[in-house]
Amino acid sequence: MPNPTAHDRIRELKQLFENDKCTGKLYCYTLPAAGVYPHQWLWDSCFNAVILSHWDDSRAKQELSSVVAKQIQSGPDKGMLPHMNYWDNKADNLWTYTDRSNITQPPLVAVAAKLVYENSKEKDISWLSEIYQKIALYHDWFDRRRDRDRDGLVSIIHPWESGWDASPRWDEALGIDHPTLEELKKARVRLAFKLQEQEYDLMSIENENGFAVEPIDFNAIRAADLEALSQIANILGRANEAEGWRLKAHKTQLAVEHEISVYHSTDLIGKQSKASLEPNLAFALALFGGCVNKELANSLVAVLQNKIFWTNHPLSTTPIDDEHFLATAYWRGNVWINLNWLIWKGLQRYGFDILADELSKATVKLVVEHGLWEYYNPITGKGLGAPGQSWSGLFIDMIR
Ligand code: GLC
Repeated sequence: MPNPTAHDRIRELKQLFENDKCTGKLYCYTLPAAGVYPHQWLWDSCFNAVILSHWDDSRAKQELSSVVAKQIQSGPDKGMLPHMNYWDNKADNLWTYTDRSNITQPPLVAVAAKLVYENSKEKDISWLSEIYQKIALYHDWFDRRRDRDRDGLVSIIHPWESGWDASPRWDEALGIDHPTLEELKKARVRLAFKLQEQEYDLMSIENENGFAVEPIDFNAIRAADLEALSQIANILGRANEAEGWRLKAHKTQLAVEHEISVYHSTDLIGKQSKASLEPNLAFALALFGGCVNKELANSLVAVLQNKIFWTNHPLSTTPIDDEHFLATAYWRGNVWINLNWLIWKGLQRYGFDILADELSKATVKLVVEHGLWEYYNPITGKGLGAPGQSWSGLFIDMIR
């Protein structure tokens, strides 16, 4: 059989998206991976909307409208967007709801909504306005519930919120040393139950010395989302609100920059404040959020190009010389196409065009040669985890 081409992969991708879950007009979402992930996940749907916008504007809008449909409507967490929507009501007893979770995921809805709007042929301003109101409430919720010290950096209260479920950077905060994947899974479920008791309240969690971390990447993504929200407000003619969101984005950007400069040295660059001391790729997300000055950006990019991150098949989430690095184990050192896409955007933002090109070419090649998978081995390129992971379709956005 001849080697697959990008065209073959795109065809495969479209078939995969036809596999999506749509029931009447009520909701519509893309399975992250059929068979493995049967529900709707927040950041997956943001990435999937960007992919869908390549061939179906209205389906891309539906993806985002569905992901915000289960926004929390009352109680202290009013405004939160759940990291999972269970459209079949089968959340078991993990959460206080049967149809949604009580925690969130990296906030990218405004970024995705802006891209979908910009890419669409017909500019649907009423859709944009409706989703804007919801995203605005979501960011208000972050300020109210997740930034107790008002330093502009929000806390996450579960590794699931980071999207990097089993990363070594959470081991210490979870209180486990050199865990197996099974032990980590059990620890995450235990923590979900503990959060029910603590009512997802940051003060209670901090008082009990629980899992509360202010990750660089999560906050950098939030800065980008606040910026996108500000731009959407401008499109909608809400200049005052746009200025408010812009100022908030700026505060977050400065706070992330401060974190990075405090921990800045070549071997410490990946450290997380108030989290584990494990180096990891999270620092590179600062570029996506526009969080660093040019000089600091140059240093980050120098670290990024080091072969401990820029592997045969870039980029490894855990440096390959780290004692925890495992090329084939879920989040312990693999390539994730969604992260490559975010970092690619960040490199472009700072004008590192040649490197951005190199990253996009390597990413496209990886997916074309090995197919759509949840994650990849950074040394061999072999696809791992769930086959047919939708978000790996982001490679089509990177074809130039
Ligand atoms: C895994 C990933 C998470 C993702 C979900 C669905 O749990 O760690 O980031 O959202 O799968 O793809």
